[in-house]
This record gives sequence, C-alpha cells and structure tokens, in this order.
Amino acid sequence: MNDAMRDTVVYYLTAGTLELADRARALCEEVHGKTVLLRALIEFSNTCALNCHYCGIRAGNHAFERYRLEPTELLAAALGAYAAGLRSFVLQSAEDPWYTTARLAAVVASIKSSCPEAALTLSCGVKTRAEYRELKAAGADRYLLRFETSDPELHRRLRDGIGLGTRLKALEDLKAEGYQVGSGFMVGLPGETEKTGIDNALLCAELGLDMVGIGPFIPHPATPLAGSPQVGLEKTLRMTSLLRLLMPKVHLPATTAAGSLDPQGREKMILAGANVLMPNMTPVPARKNYLLYPGKICLDEAGEKCLGCLRIRMLGVGRELSYARGDSLMEGAGNVA
Ligand code: 5AD
Ligand code: FES
Repeated sequence: MNDAMRDTVVYYLTAGTLELADRARALCEEVHGKTVLLRALIEFSNTCALNCHYCGIRAGNHAFERYRLEPTELLAAALGAYAAGLRSFVLQSAEDPWYTTARLAAVVASIKSSCPEAALTLSCGVKTRAEYRELKAAGADRYLLRFETSDPELHRRLRDGIGLGTRLKALEDLKAEGYQVGSGFMVGLPGETEKTGIDNALLCAELGLDMVGIGPFIPHPATPLAGSPQVGLEKTLRMTSLLRLLMPKVHLPATTAAGSLDPQGREKMILAGANVLMPNMTPVPARKNYLLYPGKICLDEAGEKCLGCLRIRMLGVGRELSYARGDSLMEGAGNVA
C-alpha cells in the first residue's frame, strides 16, 4: 500500500457515509462525466458444477429448474441487446461443463461477426490460460471474475474448499492474455470484518483492475448460509466510495444486488461513485431461475422496459445513459503480456 492509498483508507475510516459519497461522486464526475455506461447482461446458463456456500444456484440446490440457452438462443439474446442499441454485452454463466471452450468460442465468434463494434465480456468462471487465449482469439474483449473475498481462510470455507489462489491466478492469466479484467467481492459475508472489506478494496487497487463489481451479500434460503444476518446497504455504499477514491478510472457498476436489497440501491450506488449499470437482457422465462440470492429485481421486465426504467431512474440522480462500448480508461488496458 502506498502513502496515497493509506491516506484514502484513513479518510474512509473517519468520514461519514454522505461526506464520503460526496467526495467519491465529485471524483467520478470529474473522470467519467455525468453518464452511466450500460452493459447488457445475459445469464446464459445456471447449470453449475460448484458448490459455493453463498450462491443460490450452487450444484447442491435441487429446488429449482436448471436451464441453458443454446448457442442460437444466446446469439438471439445478444442480437436483441444490439437492436436495443447496446454496444457492450456481458455473457455470464455458472460453471457449466456443457459450455466447453470450443462451444463458447463459437458463440463468441458468431456474436462478434454480427455485432463487430460491440464489446464482449465473458463471466464464466475459472479456465486455463490456454482457454482464455482461445476465447480472446474468438473475439472476447473483457472478462469478469470476482475474487469474492480476499480473506484466504474465509474464501476456502465459503467456496467449498477452493482456495483464493485459484481465482487470483485466473485473473493474472486474463490480464496476461490481454483482456480488460474485472473482479470484485461481496460486502457483508458472514465472518468478514471491517479489515476484510478494506483488504478487498486494496486488493482491487493492487490488481490494477479495469472493472470492479461489488454488491451486498444477500443470504439465500436454500444454501448453507441461510439465516445469516443481512448487512445493510450502507456498507456497500461506503465500499463503493472507497473504491472510487482508490481507483478514479475504474468502471464500477451499481449492481442488481444493491437494487434488490433497497429499491433505490442502484441510485444510491451511483451517488456514492459508481458509473455503470447492467440491465438484465436474459430472456424473461429464464431469469427467475438465475437467483443467486432471493428478491432479485427486474425478473419480468423485457429489455426495452428495463432500459426505460433505468433512464428515468438515472434522470432522477442527474445521470444520462450511455450506449457506448465504454472501454477501460486504465493505462495499458488490454495489452498482451
Ligand atoms: N448475494 C449476493 N451476491 C451473490 N453472488 C453470489 N451469491 C450471492 C448472494 N447470495 C455474487 C458473487 C458472484 C456474482 C455473480 O454474484 O459475487 O461472483
Ligand atoms: Fe430493470 Fe427497472 S431497472 S425494470
């Protein structure tokens, strides 16, 4: 941690939430203006081989329907987002073995050939460096993989025995393959402390991420963490501001989890320093089965309706929506090592 980072952390620890938000928002406006970048989120498979204790679609939960969009359906969803004017797509899935790298690369290539100027982000878990290379060659531009918590002991416990190092290695591989890389963490996991939160934010800064996604942990009733305490949104808002102050250029979404915990959660995250929104463009019938946590919003609103809703919500906090690709502002982003 350098001196500037230390000063920022000290400020974070002493400032009130609104003061912190004011400073982070001012910095955000200076760097990113008053626009909010849109990323179309397509959740294309909830079939998962893993058993993370916090996650509602873990392999051990049999109380809901599994789905997988076929490659043609996934292409159609991306074309729908494209037709709505969006130029940044995030294809997210659980760790689904059916979607081999060859299958995924073929879909990526087909989407890129239909929408060449759109930026394509994948969020499909840990793969080998060679697989990341293959997906990059097929046309993927960016990759999202949250480290979830930087506490190694807590990570291993909540991720059913998988170590933090696995995700950190994957993040390193992604960077070396020339991706714009996003990571992040949940706020308020059972067993974390104030120090864990600060370490999480510092790790994001040290990793030199292009994008950071955070949101409140929301206990899911069909997981081992059912009944864990729900931490209020304020902690997420404070973390948003800390991240913005540590990483002025980073792309920081106001996440659905925040909007699910508090009806104004995304607006509050924007006012605390976030600059991105990820409207859900998953085909409506599938959405109700991608419940990582309960109470998830936007389950019934088709693309256009959701965009209209976001436009009005953002007007309310003095922001305009941007349909641009929104590439990384970090120096050297996307350079191959
Ligand atoms: N509450 C909030 N966020 C969750 N995620 C997974 N489970 C939950 C939960 N119960 C987050 C993880 C994951 C992202 C896609 O969703 O951080 O990386
Ligand atoms: Fe999706 Fe309001 S943001 S319906």
